[in-house]
Amino acid sequence: MQPFDSARLHFRPFLESDTDGMFALDSDPSVHRYLGGIGGHMATVPAQSLDTIRFIQAQYTANGIGRWAVLLRETGEFMGWAGLKLVAGPINGQQDFYDLGYRFRPRFWGQGYGFEAARAWLDYGFGVLRLPRICAYADAQNGASRRILTKIGLREGAEFLEEDVRCVWYETVNPATT
Ligand SMILES: CC(C)(COP(=O)(O)OP(=O)(O)OC[C@H]1O[C@@H](n2cnc3c(N)ncnc32)[C@H](O)[C@@H]1OP(=O)(O)O)[C@@H](O)C(=O)NCCC(=O)NCCS
Repeated sequence: MQPFDSARLHFRPFLESDTDGMFALDSDPSVHRYLGGIGGHMATVPAQSLDTIRFIQAQYTANGIGRWAVLLRETGEFMGWAGLKLVAGPINGQQDFYDLGYRFRPRFWGQGYGFEAARAWLDYGFGVLRLPRICAYADAQNGASRRILTKIGLREGAEFLEEDVRCVWYETVNPATT
């Protein structure tokens, strides 16, 4: 659980002091456009975001990993989150898989940060955590997220329905364990 950096981003475990940033993220309809039922519900009061942070912190304890806060190194601003989550499932028939995810406030979109964060977490998952396999899934219409997953080298799998949302599955195996 040691914080780490990529070229422009700082990754660290969530703190309760991230509540305001988390609320700004999760109360924004544009952020939730492609999350539907698959990304949790939109927050309407900051207390819900604090609950989410505590829920994520419980995953750190139970699973040794969970989503981490992402800060812009240059300014220290809270941008959103990224990271790996152990998902019990079943989702797309898969159980107990490590899911790569990311979510940023819109003013940070379109500058390559999503790709940078996804790449950093793929490296962390395979290099530091030595996971054998990393998976992801996205709303089939979420072009930016799908582009990122393809660019970092995940293999596109089948389409499936999750909470009535048409999704696409992605995965890749750790080259060090094959
Ligand atoms: C998805 C998200 C993280 C992308 O972040 P970002 O920092 O804007 O992404 P990047 O700038 O690194 O890269 C986006 C890539 O997708 C491309 N792209 C953007 N919109 C696209 C679209 N509608 N269709 C196809 N490709 C698209 C960009 O051109 C870029 O590709 P390129 O580097 O080859 O030019 C951001 O939009 C977000 O937080 N969305 C809300 C939460 C969310 O949907 N999370 C993913 C859930 S699966």
